[in-house]
Amino acid sequence: KFMRLLLNMSAKEKALADYLNIQFCRIVPGDSDEDASVLDEIGNTAAKELHALLPAGEFIVAVAGGSTMAQAAEHFSPELSQNRKFIFVPTRGGLGESMSIQANSVSDRMAQLVGGENMALFVPDNLSEKAYASMKSEPSIKHTLSVMKKANCLLYSIGNAKVMMERRRMSHGMISSLEAHNAVGEAFGCYFNENGEIVYRLSRFGLQIEDIEKIPYAMAIAGGSTKAKAIKAFMKYAPHQTWLITDEGAANLILKGE
Ligand code: F6P
Repeated sequence: KFMRLLLNMSAKEKALADYLNIQFCRIVPGDSDEDASVLDEIGNTAAKELHALLPAGEFIVAVAGGSTMAQAAEHFSPELSQNRKFIFVPTRGGLGESMSIQANSVSDRMAQLVGGENMALFVPDNLSEKAYASMKSEPSIKHTLSVMKKANCLLYSIGNAKVMMERRRMSHGMISSLEAHNAVGEAFGCYFNENGEIVYRLSRFGLQIEDIEKIPYAMAIAGGSTKAKAIKAFMKYAPHQTWLITDEGAANLILKGE
């Protein structure tokens, strides 16, 4: 399998995979920050590469939110379920983002297009400790969380820290504090610095960054020059089995060591 992966990657993709110490990279031409059609091509490529990544079998797919994931979902098709069975489950409830890009919407869309089952997680993600404790024991929520913890496939994106702080309408105080800690990226409700160290954790509800280590099939979908630092930092955290679908905008900056 390793040889096959080697053969399927261009020299640049191989260099990027080696640099980030992950299994596989695919680099789409262009920079999605400058050209929206590049984001669509990232999504198209992610949907295509998922065929190559997944063997035949049954999958519980944990699905994150964001505009990259929402765009990728539109390229999913019933072909994926020809020799596979799917349950899609969102990695978290709402984080105050617009409905169409929430994890719940993306996983539901993927389930519809692939022909799999979807499990929703209708819980606001920024709960108090007390509300969190009582919600966690609700039978339907407990059930969804237990399915999520059994996920054997993970699809997610990585965000630029500043963009995510603004999208989530963080207070000025919080933004200054995260900037003081040099936050460059965000994924799974965690803001991290260039060394991949978590400087702030937004929520404990849903899939945690520590859970991804043991998920055998994991694909990160993220591109654009403004995400280069975030991708590079997060990959220090990502397990070796990770596949990354990105674009030249991010890849060129990462390979330049910027
Ligand atoms: O909010 C969900 C999420 O997956 C974040 O963890 C990530 O930072 C962000 O979306 C990426 O969003 P976009 O694809 O819009 O840049």
